[in-house]
Amino acid sequence: MRAQKKPAALLLLLFAIDALHASRRKQKDKLIQTTTNICDISDRDSKIHCYCDHSQEINEAVKTECWVFNGGIEKSDSLWSSFISQSNIENLAFNVRADGGLSFVPTNVLKYLRKLRNFSVKFSSIKNIESYSFVNLTTVQEMTLTKNQIVTLSKYAFFNLPNLTILTLDENRINKLVTETFYELPSLEKLYLTSNNISVIEGGTFKHLVNLLELELDRNNISELKKECFNGLANLKRLDLRRNNLSILNSFTFTELWNLQELLLDYNEIYILAQRTFDGLSQLKKLSLSHNKLVSLINGLFEGVRGLSALDLRHNKLKKFTFDNVRPIYDNLKKQKSFIYLEGNEFDCDCHLAWMHKLRHEARSIKVRTALENFVCKFNADPSINVHLTFYEKSVIESNNLFEDDKNHDKDYKDNLDDLFQDETEEEFVEEPKIIRKENEKTLLQIPVELLPCPAATKSVTDKTYTYPSQNEAKDYRNLIITSNSYKACATIFPFVFLVLLHLKGLY
Ligand SMILES: *[C@@H]1O[C@H](CO)[C@@H](O)[C@H](O)[C@H]1NC(C)=O
Ligand SMILES: *[C@@H]1O[C@H](CO)[C@@H](O)[C@H](O)[C@H]1NC(C)=O
Ligand SMILES: *[C@@H]1O[C@H](CO)[C@@H](O)[C@H](O)[C@H]1NC(C)=O
Ligand SMILES: *[C@@H]1O[C@H](CO)[C@@H](O)[C@H](O)[C@H]1NC(C)=O
Ligand SMILES: *[C@@H]1O[C@H](CO)[C@@H](O)[C@H](O)[C@H]1NC(C)=O
Ligand SMILES: *[C@@H]1O[C@H](CO)[C@@H](O)[C@H](O)[C@H]1NC(C)=O
Repeated sequence: MRAQKKPAALLLLLFAIDALHASRRKQKDKLIQTTTNICDISDRDSKIHCYCDHSQEINEAVKTECWVFNGGIEKSDSLWSSFISQSNIENLAFNVRADGGLSFVPTNVLKYLRKLRNFSVKFSSIKNIESYSFVNLTTVQEMTLTKNQIVTLSKYAFFNLPNLTILTLDENRINKLVTETFYELPSLEKLYLTSNNISVIEGGTFKHLVNLLELELDRNNISELKKECFNGLANLKRLDLRRNNLSILNSFTFTELWNLQELLLDYNEIYILAQRTFDGLSQLKKLSLSHNKLVSLINGLFEGVRGLSALDLRHNKLKKFTFDNVRPIYDNLKKQKSFIYLEGNEFDCDCHLAWMHKLRHEARSIKVRTALENFVCKFNADPSINVHLTFYEKSVIESNNLFEDDKNHDKDYKDNLDDLFQDETEEEFVEEPKIIRKENEKTLLQIPVELLPCPAATKSVTDKTYTYPSQNEAKDYRNLIITSNSYKACATIFPFVFLVLLHLKGLY
Protein backbone atom coordinates (compact mmCIF):
# COMPACT_ATOMS: atom_id res chain seq x y z
CA MET A 1 0.00 0.00 0.00
CA ARG A 2 2.65 2.46 1.03
CA ALA A 3 4.64 1.67 -2.11
CA GLN A 4 1.65 2.55 -4.27
CA LYS A 5 0.81 5.79 -2.49
CA LYS A 6 4.22 7.38 -3.01
CA PRO A 7 4.21 7.61 -6.84
CA ALA A 8 0.77 9.19 -6.73
CA ALA A 9 1.95 11.95 -4.40
CA LEU A 10 5.06 12.45 -6.50
CA LEU A 11 2.97 12.73 -9.63
CA LEU A 12 0.83 15.36 -7.96
CA LEU A 13 3.91 17.30 -6.88
CA LEU A 14 5.48 17.14 -10.35
CA PHE A 15 2.24 18.40 -11.83
CA ALA A 16 2.16 21.29 -9.43
CA ILE A 17 5.77 22.23 -10.23
CA ASP A 18 5.06 22.04 -13.92
CA ALA A 19 2.06 24.31 -13.58
CA LEU A 20 4.17 26.81 -11.63
CA HIS A 21 6.86 26.80 -14.33
CA ALA A 22 4.26 27.29 -17.03
CA SER A 23 2.79 30.26 -15.29
CA ARG A 24 6.29 31.75 -14.75
CA ARG A 25 7.05 31.22 -18.43
CA LYS A 26 3.85 32.96 -19.34
CA GLN A 27 4.75 35.88 -17.09
CA LYS A 28 8.18 36.12 -18.65
CA ASP A 29 6.79 36.02 -22.18
CA LYS A 30 4.38 38.70 -21.19
CA LEU A 31 7.20 40.80 -19.74
CA ILE A 32 9.23 40.59 -22.92
CA GLN A 33 6.21 41.39 -25.00
CA THR A 34 5.18 44.43 -22.98
CA THR A 35 8.65 45.77 -22.33
CA THR A 36 9.70 48.03 -25.16
CA ASN A 37 13.11 47.28 -26.57
CA ILE A 38 14.69 50.68 -26.12
CA CYS A 39 16.78 50.10 -29.25
CA ASP A 40 13.75 49.38 -31.39
CA ILE A 41 11.11 52.00 -30.75
CA SER A 42 8.70 52.32 -33.66
CA ASP A 43 6.31 54.83 -32.05
CA ARG A 44 6.98 58.11 -33.81
CA ASP A 45 5.68 60.07 -30.83
CA SER A 46 8.03 58.43 -28.40
CA LYS A 47 9.92 60.92 -26.31
CA ILE A 48 13.13 58.95 -26.60
CA HIS A 49 14.77 57.34 -29.58
CA CYS A 50 17.94 55.36 -29.20
CA TYR A 51 20.50 54.25 -31.74
CA CYS A 52 22.23 51.11 -30.66
CA ASP A 53 25.53 49.70 -31.76
CA HIS A 54 26.63 46.16 -31.98
CA SER A 55 23.04 44.86 -32.17
CA GLN A 56 19.48 45.98 -31.49
CA GLU A 57 18.38 42.61 -30.15
CA ILE A 58 17.27 42.37 -26.54
CA ASN A 59 20.26 42.65 -24.23
CA GLU A 60 22.69 42.82 -27.15
CA ALA A 61 23.36 46.55 -27.43
CA VAL A 62 26.73 47.76 -26.16
CA LYS A 63 26.80 51.36 -27.28
CA THR A 64 23.59 53.38 -27.14
CA GLU A 65 22.93 56.98 -28.03
CA CYS A 66 19.51 58.28 -27.04
CA TRP A 67 17.83 61.45 -28.22
CA VAL A 68 15.21 63.09 -26.06
CA PHE A 69 12.49 64.76 -28.18
CA ASN A 70 8.91 65.89 -28.05
CA GLY A 71 8.36 68.26 -25.21
CA GLY A 72 10.24 66.63 -22.40
CA ILE A 73 9.96 63.51 -20.36
CA GLU A 74 8.79 63.00 -16.78
CA LYS A 75 10.55 61.00 -14.11
CA SER A 76 7.50 58.71 -13.94
CA ASP A 77 7.42 57.91 -17.66
CA SER A 78 7.24 54.14 -18.22
CA LEU A 79 9.82 54.45 -20.96
CA TRP A 80 12.56 54.65 -18.35
CA SER A 81 11.92 51.10 -17.18
CA SER A 82 12.36 49.91 -20.78
CA PHE A 83 16.07 50.26 -20.34
CA ILE A 84 15.85 46.89 -18.62
CA SER A 85 15.61 45.50 -22.17
CA GLN A 86 19.26 46.37 -22.73
CA SER A 87 21.05 45.55 -19.55
CA ASN A 88 24.43 45.04 -21.23
CA ILE A 89 24.92 48.61 -22.37
CA GLU A 90 28.47 49.80 -21.68
CA ASN A 91 28.25 53.20 -23.30
CA LEU A 92 25.16 55.35 -22.84
CA ALA A 93 24.67 58.93 -24.01
CA PHE A 94 21.59 61.16 -23.77
CA ASN A 95 21.39 64.13 -26.11
CA VAL A 96 18.47 66.41 -25.45
CA ARG A 97 17.08 68.15 -28.51
CA ALA A 98 15.90 71.73 -28.45
CA ASP A 99 12.26 70.66 -28.48
CA GLY A 100 12.86 68.15 -25.73
CA GLY A 101 13.58 68.48 -22.07
CA LEU A 102 15.23 66.50 -19.39
CA SER A 103 15.38 68.17 -16.03
CA PHE A 104 16.71 65.36 -13.84
CA VAL A 105 19.34 62.66 -13.83
CA PRO A 106 17.73 59.35 -14.91
CA THR A 107 19.16 57.62 -11.87
CA ASN A 108 16.86 54.61 -12.09
CA VAL A 109 18.03 53.74 -15.61
CA LEU A 110 21.59 53.53 -14.42
CA LYS A 111 20.69 50.85 -11.90
CA TYR A 112 19.58 48.46 -14.64
CA LEU A 113 22.86 48.72 -16.48
CA ARG A 114 25.23 46.34 -14.77
CA LYS A 115 28.03 46.86 -17.29
CA LEU A 116 27.81 50.61 -17.77
CA ARG A 117 31.26 52.14 -18.26
CA ASN A 118 30.63 55.44 -19.92
CA PHE A 119 27.69 57.73 -19.29
CA SER A 120 26.96 61.13 -20.76
CA VAL A 121 24.16 63.74 -20.80
CA LYS A 122 24.25 66.82 -23.00
CA PHE A 123 21.95 69.81 -23.57
CA SER A 124 19.59 68.88 -20.75
CA SER A 125 17.96 71.42 -18.45
CA ILE A 126 19.21 69.69 -15.31
CA LYS A 127 19.69 72.45 -12.71
CA ASN A 128 20.78 70.46 -9.73
CA ILE A 129 22.62 67.22 -9.27
CA GLU A 130 20.80 65.88 -6.24
CA SER A 131 22.33 63.79 -3.51
CA TYR A 132 22.90 60.20 -4.55
CA SER A 133 22.06 60.89 -8.22
CA PHE A 134 25.11 58.88 -9.04
CA VAL A 135 25.55 56.30 -6.36
CA ASN A 136 27.03 52.83 -6.19
CA LEU A 137 27.64 52.55 -9.93
CA THR A 138 30.58 50.25 -9.48
CA THR A 139 31.42 49.78 -13.15
CA VAL A 140 31.27 53.36 -14.43
CA GLN A 141 34.63 54.74 -15.47
CA GLU A 142 33.83 57.92 -17.31
CA MET A 143 31.04 60.40 -16.84
CA THR A 144 30.44 63.46 -19.03
CA LEU A 145 27.86 66.11 -18.14
CA THR A 146 29.00 68.87 -20.48
CA LYS A 147 26.70 71.64 -21.75
CA ASN A 148 23.83 71.29 -19.34
CA GLN A 149 22.33 73.96 -17.09
CA ILE A 150 23.70 72.66 -13.83
CA VAL A 151 23.92 75.36 -11.16
CA THR A 152 24.32 73.33 -7.98
CA LEU A 153 25.99 70.10 -7.00
CA SER A 154 24.47 68.77 -3.80
CA LYS A 155 26.40 66.98 -1.12
CA TYR A 156 26.92 63.34 -2.07
CA ALA A 157 25.97 64.05 -5.70
CA PHE A 158 28.78 61.73 -6.72
CA PHE A 159 28.99 59.03 -4.12
CA ASN A 160 30.67 55.66 -4.12
CA LEU A 161 31.74 55.28 -7.71
CA PRO A 162 34.74 53.05 -7.13
CA ASN A 163 35.81 52.91 -10.77
CA LEU A 164 35.09 56.48 -11.88
CA THR A 165 38.27 57.85 -13.45
CA ILE A 166 37.17 60.92 -15.41
CA LEU A 167 34.37 63.31 -14.45
CA THR A 168 33.58 66.17 -16.82
CA LEU A 169 31.22 68.98 -15.86
CA ASP A 170 32.33 71.59 -18.41
CA GLU A 171 30.08 74.35 -19.74
CA ASN A 172 27.48 74.45 -17.02
CA ARG A 173 26.63 77.26 -14.60
CA ILE A 174 27.88 75.74 -11.38
CA ASN A 175 28.46 78.60 -8.95
CA LYS A 176 29.79 76.93 -5.85
CA LEU A 177 31.67 73.81 -4.84
CA VAL A 178 30.83 72.39 -1.43
CA THR A 179 32.33 69.70 0.75
CA GLU A 180 31.27 66.06 0.40
CA THR A 181 29.99 66.53 -3.16
CA PHE A 182 32.76 64.29 -4.36
CA TYR A 183 32.77 61.39 -1.98
CA GLU A 184 34.17 57.87 -2.17
CA LEU A 185 35.66 58.29 -5.60
CA PRO A 186 38.94 56.50 -5.05
CA SER A 187 39.79 56.12 -8.75
CA LEU A 188 39.06 59.67 -9.84
CA GLU A 189 42.06 61.05 -11.71
CA LYS A 190 40.59 63.87 -13.76
CA LEU A 191 37.99 66.39 -12.72
CA TYR A 192 37.02 68.97 -15.32
CA LEU A 193 34.99 72.04 -14.36
CA THR A 194 35.91 74.38 -17.21
CA SER A 195 33.51 77.19 -18.18
CA ASN A 196 31.25 77.34 -15.19
CA ASN A 197 30.43 80.22 -12.88
CA ILE A 198 32.28 79.04 -9.78
CA SER A 199 33.11 81.82 -7.37
CA VAL A 200 33.20 79.88 -4.11
CA ILE A 201 35.16 76.75 -3.28
CA GLU A 202 34.53 75.58 0.26
CA GLY A 203 37.56 74.43 2.19
CA GLY A 204 37.82 70.67 1.96
CA THR A 205 35.79 70.34 -1.26
CA PHE A 206 38.41 68.04 -2.74
CA LYS A 207 39.64 66.43 0.44
CA HIS A 208 38.48 62.93 -0.54
CA LEU A 209 40.09 63.04 -3.97
CA VAL A 210 43.47 61.74 -2.91
CA ASN A 211 44.21 60.21 -6.30
CA LEU A 212 43.22 63.17 -8.42
CA LEU A 213 45.93 64.07 -10.97
CA GLU A 214 44.30 66.84 -12.96
CA LEU A 215 41.91 69.59 -11.90
CA GLU A 216 40.58 72.09 -14.41
CA LEU A 217 38.87 75.16 -13.01
CA ASP A 218 39.58 77.51 -15.90
CA ARG A 219 36.98 79.98 -17.19
CA ASN A 220 35.21 80.46 -13.90
CA ASN A 221 34.73 83.40 -11.58
CA ILE A 222 37.12 82.55 -8.75
CA SER A 223 38.48 85.64 -7.06
CA GLU A 224 39.86 84.15 -3.88
CA LEU A 225 41.82 81.04 -3.05
CA LYS A 226 42.57 79.74 0.41
CA LYS A 227 44.96 76.94 1.05
CA GLU A 228 42.10 74.87 2.53
CA CYS A 229 40.55 74.76 -0.96
CA PHE A 230 43.18 72.27 -1.96
CA ASN A 231 43.19 70.03 1.09
CA GLY A 232 43.63 66.40 0.16
CA LEU A 233 45.01 66.90 -3.33
CA ALA A 234 48.32 65.39 -2.44
CA ASN A 235 48.77 63.74 -5.82
CA LEU A 236 47.56 66.50 -8.08
CA LYS A 237 49.95 67.10 -10.99
CA ARG A 238 48.17 69.78 -12.98
CA LEU A 239 46.00 72.66 -11.83
CA ASP A 240 44.37 74.96 -14.35
CA LEU A 241 43.02 78.25 -13.01
CA ARG A 242 43.23 80.27 -16.20
CA ARG A 243 40.61 82.93 -16.96
CA ASN A 244 39.33 83.51 -13.47
CA ASN A 245 39.17 86.68 -11.43
CA LEU A 246 42.14 86.20 -9.10
CA SER A 247 43.91 89.37 -8.05
CA ILE A 248 45.89 88.63 -4.89
CA LEU A 249 47.53 85.36 -3.96
CA ASN A 250 48.64 84.89 -0.38
CA SER A 251 51.56 82.97 1.01
CA PHE A 252 51.19 79.19 1.11
CA THR A 253 48.07 79.14 -1.10
CA PHE A 254 49.25 76.02 -2.89
CA THR A 255 51.16 74.41 -0.07
CA GLU A 256 48.93 71.30 0.05
CA LEU A 257 49.82 70.49 -3.55
CA TRP A 258 53.20 69.02 -2.96
CA ASN A 259 53.18 66.90 -6.12
CA LEU A 260 51.99 69.62 -8.45
CA GLN A 261 54.03 69.91 -11.65
CA GLU A 262 52.06 72.43 -13.64
CA LEU A 263 50.23 75.52 -12.39
CA LEU A 264 48.35 77.68 -14.86
CA LEU A 265 47.22 81.13 -13.71
CA ASP A 266 47.06 82.98 -17.02
CA TYR A 267 44.35 85.55 -17.81
CA ASN A 268 43.53 86.62 -14.27
CA GLU A 269 43.87 90.02 -12.60
CA ILE A 270 46.81 89.09 -10.43
CA TYR A 271 48.83 92.05 -9.24
CA ILE A 272 50.09 90.78 -5.89
CA LEU A 273 51.99 87.59 -5.28
CA ALA A 274 53.07 87.25 -1.68
CA GLN A 275 56.66 86.22 -1.17
CA ARG A 276 55.74 82.66 -0.21
CA THR A 277 52.77 82.15 -2.55
CA PHE A 278 54.39 79.18 -4.21
CA ASP A 279 56.07 77.67 -1.16
CA GLY A 280 55.51 73.95 -0.87
CA LEU A 281 55.39 73.36 -4.61
CA SER A 282 58.63 71.46 -4.57
CA GLN A 283 57.77 69.45 -7.69
CA LEU A 284 56.52 72.35 -9.77
CA LYS A 285 58.10 72.49 -13.22
CA LYS A 286 55.84 74.83 -15.10
CA LEU A 287 54.29 78.07 -13.88
CA SER A 288 52.40 80.35 -16.17
CA LEU A 289 51.18 83.78 -15.18
CA SER A 290 50.72 85.46 -18.53
CA HIS A 291 48.06 88.15 -19.07
CA ASN A 292 47.93 89.36 -15.48
CA LYS A 293 48.71 92.71 -13.86
CA LEU A 294 52.04 92.05 -12.20
CA VAL A 295 54.18 95.15 -11.80
CA SER A 296 56.98 93.62 -9.78
CA LEU A 297 58.11 90.32 -8.36
CA ILE A 298 59.20 90.17 -4.78
CA ASN A 299 62.63 88.71 -4.12
CA GLY A 300 62.42 85.13 -2.92
CA LEU A 301 59.19 84.43 -4.81
CA PHE A 302 60.78 81.42 -6.45
CA GLU A 303 62.66 80.19 -3.38
CA GLY A 304 59.93 77.63 -2.73
CA VAL A 305 59.82 76.29 -6.29
CA ARG A 306 63.36 75.31 -6.95
CA GLY A 307 62.44 72.76 -9.61
CA LEU A 308 60.80 75.37 -11.82
CA SER A 309 62.15 75.26 -15.36
CA ALA A 310 59.29 76.71 -17.39
CA LEU A 311 58.03 80.19 -16.64
CA ASP A 312 55.59 82.31 -18.61
CA LEU A 313 55.20 85.94 -17.56
CA ARG A 314 54.09 87.42 -20.85
CA HIS A 315 51.76 90.41 -20.96
CA ASN A 316 52.05 91.77 -17.47
CA LYS A 317 53.32 95.17 -16.45
CA LEU A 318 56.68 94.09 -15.13
CA LYS A 319 59.40 96.71 -15.05
CA LYS A 320 62.10 94.62 -13.46
CA PHE A 321 63.23 91.05 -13.26
CA THR A 322 66.34 91.08 -11.14
CA PHE A 323 68.97 88.43 -10.75
CA ASP A 324 67.73 88.00 -7.19
CA ASN A 325 64.31 87.11 -8.63
CA VAL A 326 65.70 84.52 -10.98
CA ARG A 327 68.49 83.13 -8.82
CA PRO A 328 66.62 80.15 -7.28
CA ILE A 329 65.75 78.83 -10.74
CA TYR A 330 68.64 80.17 -12.78
CA ASP A 331 70.36 76.81 -13.15
CA ASN A 332 67.09 75.13 -14.25
CA LEU A 333 66.69 77.69 -17.02
CA LYS A 334 69.98 76.53 -18.50
CA LYS A 335 68.55 73.07 -19.10
CA GLN A 336 67.45 71.77 -22.45
CA LYS A 337 63.73 71.58 -21.82
CA SER A 338 63.20 74.85 -20.07
CA PHE A 339 61.59 78.07 -21.22
CA ILE A 340 61.06 81.60 -20.02
CA TYR A 341 58.65 83.92 -21.82
CA LEU A 342 58.70 87.59 -20.94
CA GLU A 343 57.40 89.60 -23.86
CA GLY A 344 54.68 92.18 -23.53
CA ASN A 345 55.97 93.75 -20.32
CA GLU A 346 57.44 97.13 -19.51
CA PHE A 347 60.97 96.24 -18.58
CA ASP A 348 63.52 98.99 -18.22
CA CYS A 349 66.84 98.34 -19.89
CA ASP A 350 69.12 98.45 -16.91
CA CYS A 351 71.78 96.46 -15.17
CA HIS A 352 69.14 94.35 -13.32
CA LEU A 353 68.76 92.49 -16.57
CA ALA A 354 72.45 91.82 -17.08
CA TRP A 355 71.92 88.16 -16.18
CA MET A 356 70.10 87.67 -19.48
CA HIS A 357 73.35 88.12 -21.39
CA LYS A 358 74.89 85.39 -19.32
CA LEU A 359 71.92 83.06 -19.55
CA ARG A 360 71.75 83.51 -23.32
CA HIS A 361 75.21 81.99 -23.54
CA GLU A 362 74.69 79.29 -20.94
CA ALA A 363 71.22 78.09 -21.94
CA ARG A 364 70.84 74.86 -23.87
CA SER A 365 67.15 75.39 -24.53
CA ILE A 366 66.35 76.96 -27.88
CA LYS A 367 63.21 78.44 -26.33
CA VAL A 368 65.17 80.23 -23.62
CA ARG A 369 67.72 81.50 -26.11
CA THR A 370 65.13 82.69 -28.61
CA ALA A 371 63.11 84.43 -25.91
CA LEU A 372 66.20 86.23 -24.66
CA GLU A 373 67.35 87.18 -28.15
CA ASN A 374 63.97 88.76 -28.83
CA PHE A 375 63.74 90.36 -25.40
CA VAL A 376 62.91 94.03 -25.67
CA CYS A 377 63.14 96.66 -22.95
CA LYS A 378 62.64 100.38 -22.57
CA PHE A 379 65.72 102.45 -22.73
CA ASN A 380 65.27 105.84 -21.13
CA ALA A 381 68.83 106.93 -20.67
CA ASP A 382 70.83 109.98 -21.51
CA PRO A 383 70.34 110.76 -25.22
CA SER A 384 74.08 110.79 -25.80
CA ILE A 385 74.19 107.10 -24.78
CA ASN A 386 71.38 106.38 -27.20
CA VAL A 387 73.40 107.86 -30.01
CA HIS A 388 76.36 105.77 -29.06
CA LEU A 389 74.16 102.65 -28.82
CA THR A 390 72.70 103.12 -32.22
CA PHE A 391 76.20 103.18 -33.54
CA TYR A 392 77.05 100.08 -31.54
CA GLU A 393 73.91 98.25 -32.67
CA LYS A 394 74.83 98.94 -36.25
CA SER A 395 78.26 97.44 -35.84
CA VAL A 396 76.74 94.42 -34.07
CA ILE A 397 74.22 93.83 -36.81
CA GLU A 398 76.86 94.22 -39.49
CA SER A 399 79.39 91.90 -37.97
CA ASN A 400 76.60 89.66 -36.62
CA ASN A 401 78.99 88.32 -34.05
CA LEU A 402 76.75 88.36 -31.01
CA PHE A 403 74.87 85.17 -31.94
CA GLU A 404 77.63 83.54 -33.93
CA ASP A 405 77.40 80.28 -32.00
CA ASP A 406 73.81 79.68 -33.18
CA LYS A 407 74.81 77.06 -35.71
CA ASN A 408 76.23 74.86 -33.00
CA HIS A 409 72.83 74.74 -31.41
CA ASP A 410 70.88 73.48 -34.43
CA LYS A 411 71.28 69.94 -33.16
CA ASP A 412 69.65 70.90 -29.87
CA TYR A 413 66.59 72.05 -31.70
CA LYS A 414 65.66 68.50 -32.67
CA ASP A 415 66.17 67.29 -29.12
CA ASN A 416 63.93 70.08 -27.99
CA LEU A 417 61.06 68.63 -29.93
CA ASP A 418 60.90 65.91 -27.32
CA ASP A 419 60.24 68.66 -24.85
CA LEU A 420 58.38 67.59 -21.76
CA PHE A 421 55.96 70.46 -22.21
CA GLN A 422 55.87 70.31 -25.94
CA ASP A 423 52.25 69.40 -26.69
CA GLU A 424 51.01 72.18 -24.52
CA THR A 425 53.45 74.95 -25.24
CA GLU A 426 53.65 74.37 -28.97
CA GLU A 427 49.98 75.01 -29.34
CA GLU A 428 49.85 77.72 -26.73
CA PHE A 429 52.91 79.64 -27.79
CA VAL A 430 51.52 81.37 -30.79
CA GLU A 431 54.09 83.58 -32.41
CA GLU A 432 52.60 86.98 -31.90
CA PRO A 433 52.86 89.50 -34.72
CA LYS A 434 55.90 91.68 -34.31
CA ILE A 435 54.72 94.96 -32.89
CA ILE A 436 56.39 97.92 -34.48
CA ARG A 437 58.86 98.86 -31.87
CA LYS A 438 58.48 102.13 -30.09
CA GLU A 439 61.17 104.76 -30.25
CA ASN A 440 62.71 103.95 -26.87
CA GLU A 441 62.59 100.16 -27.09
CA LYS A 442 65.77 98.19 -27.54
CA THR A 443 66.73 94.59 -27.92
CA LEU A 444 68.48 93.96 -24.65
CA LEU A 445 71.11 91.59 -25.94
CA GLN A 446 72.26 94.18 -28.44
CA ILE A 447 73.18 96.50 -25.61
CA PRO A 448 76.57 95.61 -24.16
CA VAL A 449 76.33 94.83 -20.47
CA GLU A 450 78.66 97.65 -19.57
CA LEU A 451 76.33 100.15 -21.20
CA LEU A 452 73.28 99.15 -19.20
CA PRO A 453 72.49 101.95 -16.80
CA CYS A 454 72.27 101.14 -13.13
CA PRO A 455 69.82 103.63 -11.74
CA ALA A 456 69.68 102.13 -8.26
CA ALA A 457 69.60 105.43 -6.45
CA THR A 458 66.99 107.18 -8.56
CA LYS A 459 64.81 104.11 -8.21
CA SER A 460 64.49 104.71 -4.51
CA VAL A 461 62.95 108.08 -5.27
CA THR A 462 60.72 107.12 -8.16
CA ASP A 463 59.77 103.52 -7.56
CA LYS A 464 57.98 102.60 -4.36
CA THR A 465 58.43 98.90 -5.01
CA TYR A 466 62.19 99.22 -5.15
CA THR A 467 64.04 97.21 -2.54
CA TYR A 468 67.65 97.71 -1.68
CA PRO A 469 70.03 95.43 -3.55
CA SER A 470 71.20 92.35 -1.76
CA GLN A 471 74.88 91.72 -1.04
CA ASN A 472 75.27 89.86 -4.30
CA GLU A 473 73.42 92.34 -6.35
CA ALA A 474 75.54 95.10 -4.92
CA LYS A 475 78.61 93.07 -5.83
CA ASP A 476 77.28 92.72 -9.36
CA TYR A 477 76.96 96.47 -9.59
CA ARG A 478 80.51 96.95 -8.38
CA ASN A 479 81.81 94.49 -10.96
CA LEU A 480 79.84 96.25 -13.61
CA ILE A 481 81.30 99.56 -12.58
CA ILE A 482 84.83 98.20 -12.54
CA THR A 483 84.54 96.72 -16.01
CA SER A 484 82.62 99.61 -17.50
CA ASN A 485 83.79 102.55 -19.52
CA SER A 486 83.14 106.20 -18.93
CA TYR A 487 79.51 105.97 -20.07
CA LYS A 488 78.83 103.59 -17.25
CA ALA A 489 80.49 105.81 -14.75
CA CYS A 490 78.38 108.64 -16.02
CA ALA A 491 75.19 106.66 -15.61
CA THR A 492 75.97 105.74 -12.02
CA ILE A 493 77.36 109.07 -10.97
CA PHE A 494 74.49 110.98 -12.48
CA PRO A 495 71.85 109.79 -10.00
CA PHE A 496 74.28 110.41 -7.18
CA VAL A 497 74.72 114.00 -8.27
CA PHE A 498 70.98 114.23 -8.71
CA LEU A 499 70.41 113.05 -5.15
CA VAL A 500 72.99 115.46 -3.79
CA LEU A 501 71.19 118.26 -5.58
CA LEU A 502 67.84 117.09 -4.22
CA HIS A 503 69.40 116.92 -0.79
CA LEU A 504 70.75 120.42 -1.07
CA LYS A 505 67.31 121.61 -2.09
CA GLY A 506 65.87 119.87 0.96
CA LEU A 507 63.69 117.59 -1.16
CA TYR A 508 65.22 114.29 -0.23
C1 LIG B 1 32.73 58.30 -23.24
O1 LIG B 1 31.79 59.26 -23.71
C2 LIG B 1 32.32 60.49 -24.07
C3 LIG B 1 31.19 61.41 -24.41
O2 LIG B 1 30.24 60.79 -25.20
C4 LIG B 1 33.30 60.29 -25.22
O3 LIG B 1 33.88 61.51 -25.56
C5 LIG B 1 34.38 59.30 -24.80
O4 LIG B 1 35.22 59.02 -25.87
C6 LIG B 1 33.76 58.01 -24.31
N1 LIG B 1 34.80 57.15 -23.79
C7 LIG B 1 34.87 55.87 -24.07
C8 LIG B 1 35.97 55.12 -23.41
O5 LIG B 1 34.10 55.32 -24.84
C1 LIG C 1 25.15 52.23 -1.75
O1 LIG C 1 26.02 51.26 -1.20
C2 LIG C 1 26.16 51.38 0.20
C3 LIG C 1 27.24 50.41 0.65
O2 LIG C 1 27.32 49.32 -0.20
C4 LIG C 1 24.82 51.10 0.86
O3 LIG C 1 24.94 51.22 2.25
C5 LIG C 1 23.82 52.13 0.35
O4 LIG C 1 22.54 51.85 0.85
C6 LIG C 1 23.75 52.13 -1.15
N1 LIG C 1 22.94 53.25 -1.55
C7 LIG C 1 22.04 53.20 -2.51
C8 LIG C 1 21.21 54.42 -2.74
O5 LIG C 1 21.87 52.20 -3.18
C1 LIG D 1 36.94 48.58 -12.59
O1 LIG D 1 37.77 48.76 -13.75
C2 LIG D 1 38.70 47.74 -13.92
C3 LIG D 1 39.60 48.06 -15.10
O2 LIG D 1 39.13 49.07 -15.87
C4 LIG D 1 37.99 46.40 -14.13
O3 LIG D 1 38.94 45.38 -14.28
C5 LIG D 1 37.13 46.13 -12.90
O4 LIG D 1 36.40 44.97 -13.10
C6 LIG D 1 36.18 47.28 -12.67
N1 LIG D 1 35.45 47.07 -11.46
C7 LIG D 1 34.17 46.90 -11.47
C8 LIG D 1 33.52 46.68 -10.15
O5 LIG D 1 33.54 46.91 -12.52
C1 LIG E 1 26.91 83.56 -11.99
O1 LIG E 1 26.74 83.70 -10.61
C2 LIG E 1 26.33 84.98 -10.20
C3 LIG E 1 26.25 84.97 -8.70
O2 LIG E 1 27.46 84.59 -8.16
C4 LIG E 1 24.97 85.30 -10.82
O3 LIG E 1 24.60 86.60 -10.47
C5 LIG E 1 25.07 85.18 -12.33
O4 LIG E 1 23.80 85.35 -12.90
C6 LIG E 1 25.59 83.82 -12.71
N1 LIG E 1 25.80 83.76 -14.14
C7 LIG E 1 25.29 82.77 -14.87
C8 LIG E 1 25.59 82.81 -16.31
O5 LIG E 1 24.65 81.85 -14.39
C1 LIG F 1 31.25 86.67 -10.33
O1 LIG F 1 30.87 86.54 -8.99
C2 LIG F 1 30.44 87.74 -8.39
C3 LIG F 1 30.13 87.44 -6.94
O2 LIG F 1 31.25 86.88 -6.34
C4 LIG F 1 29.20 88.25 -9.10
O3 LIG F 1 28.81 89.47 -8.54
C5 LIG F 1 29.51 88.43 -10.58
O4 LIG F 1 28.33 88.78 -11.26
C6 LIG F 1 30.05 87.15 -11.15
N1 LIG F 1 30.50 87.39 -12.51
C7 LIG F 1 29.96 86.73 -13.54
C8 LIG F 1 30.54 87.06 -14.87
O5 LIG F 1 29.10 85.90 -13.43
C1 LIG G 1 36.13 90.29 -10.08
O1 LIG G 1 36.22 90.49 -8.69
C2 LIG G 1 36.00 91.83 -8.29
C3 LIG G 1 36.18 91.89 -6.80
O2 LIG G 1 37.40 91.32 -6.44
C4 LIG G 1 34.60 92.27 -8.68
O3 LIG G 1 34.41 93.61 -8.35
C5 LIG G 1 34.43 92.08 -10.18
O4 LIG G 1 33.08 92.36 -10.53
C6 LIG G 1 34.75 90.68 -10.58
N1 LIG G 1 34.71 90.55 -12.02
C7 LIG G 1 33.88 89.72 -12.63
C8 LIG G 1 33.99 89.68 -14.12
O5 LIG G 1 33.08 89.03 -12.04
